[in-house]
Parts: sequence; structure tokens; C-alpha cells
Amino acid sequence: MTVRNAEEAEVDRLAEIWWHGWRDAHLEILPAELARRRTRSSFRGRLLERLLDVRVAGPSGAPVGFHLVQQDELYQLYVAEASRGAGIAASLLADAETRMADGGVETAWLACAIGNERAARFYEKHGWRRTGIVTSHLATDEGPFRLDVWRYEKSLRHHG
Ligand SMILES: CC(C)(COP(=O)(O)OP(=O)(O)OC[C@H]1O[C@@H](n2cnc3c(N)ncnc32)[C@H](O)[C@@H]1OP(=O)(O)O)[C@@H](O)C(=O)NCCC(=O)NCCS
Repeated sequence: MTVRNAEEAEVDRLAEIWWHGWRDAHLEILPAELARRRTRSSFRGRLLERLLDVRVAGPSGAPVGFHLVQQDELYQLYVAEASRGAGIAASLLADAETRMADGGVETAWLACAIGNERAARFYEKHGWRRTGIVTSHLATDEGPFRLDVWRYEKSLRHHG
């Protein structure tokens, strides 16, 4: 599936995908206090701040997934529930890796919630390696939220 830049008119749909996906993956495994801070409008605001870097899969006006890269970090990757298990996540991941490799990144990393087994399985299937547990300081509207996470890495040196 083709991966392209997000359009401004897609922000609401993308925020829904992020909000629903965040809850699917994390509600049972992360602290309730973090879930309280992760409101629909917080996701919309975070998307608007970085829209130029958001890449999406799906038809114009109806994206089904997105990724967001920050330098050497795959910062976000979400696919709408109805579109999972169909290779769309793999297309998004390949696009993210290509963009990082083209930007000169040799080792990419990402943080994954401890216990997010579906995401972990997905990353491992695509050559990412869990390197340990690190403490993240997650950005929230009420200030940073400390959370231990799984750190994953992938070498992009021979990418492409
Ligand atoms: C993570 C995500 C992008 C992966 O996309 P996907 O389309 O689900 O990926 P795939 O179906 O190719 O791979 C998922 C793997 O997990 C397996 N899986 C499915 N449900 C699972 C579960 N409950 N527990 C463990 N593994 C599970 C699948 O069988 C598949 O492995 P397989 O190909 O060996 O059978 C997508 O699930 C998603 O958006 N999840 C919610 C948001 C999220 O967690 N994002 C990542 C944050 S770090």
C-alpha cells in the first residue's frame, strides 16, 4: 500500500485512529493516570504540531494508519483496528525505516509499552530487537509522565 504525506483535513480521522489504537493497546497495561491524560483532543493537538512529518496509508480523506518519525526514533505507528493484519503496518514501517535511513540514521529506535505483545511481535517479525527496559518521560499536557518501556532497535546500515 502506498504511503504518503498526511493532509490537514485528515487530522480528525487520524486523531480517532490514534485515540482508539492507544486505548486498544494500552488501557489494560498502563497506569489509569496516563489514560486520563490521553484525551482525544490531546492526540489531535499532538498531530497538528507535527503534521508535516506524519505519513499515512489509505485513500485521501480516509487514512487507515499513520507513522511519525522524530530523527532516529519511530515515535508513533498506529493502524485502525479494522485494517490490522493486512500488511498495512508493514508498509508504514518500511516507509518509516526508509525515511530514517535516507536521513542518515544508522540505528533506529522506538519505545513500546511493556506488555504490548501484538506490537512487540510485529516489530520482532520485521527485524527489530528488544534491547532492554528504559524510562521514558512521556509528553502530556500536564507535564512529563515517567514510564518504563521496552526499547527496540534496528540497524538501518544496510537498508534498501
Ligand atoms: C502494532 C500494529 C501497528 C501492528 O500492525 P498489525 O496489522 O496488527 O500487524 P500484523 O498483523 O502484521 O502483526 C501483528 C502480529 O501480532 C500477532 N498478534 C495479533 N494479536 C495478538 C495478541 N493479542 N498478542 C500477541 N500477538 C498478537 C499477529 O498474529 C501478528 O503476528 P504473525 O504475523 O506472526 O501472526 C497494530 O496492531 C496497531 O496499530 N496496534 C495498536 C497501536 C500500537 O500498539 N502501536 C504501536 C505502539 S509501540
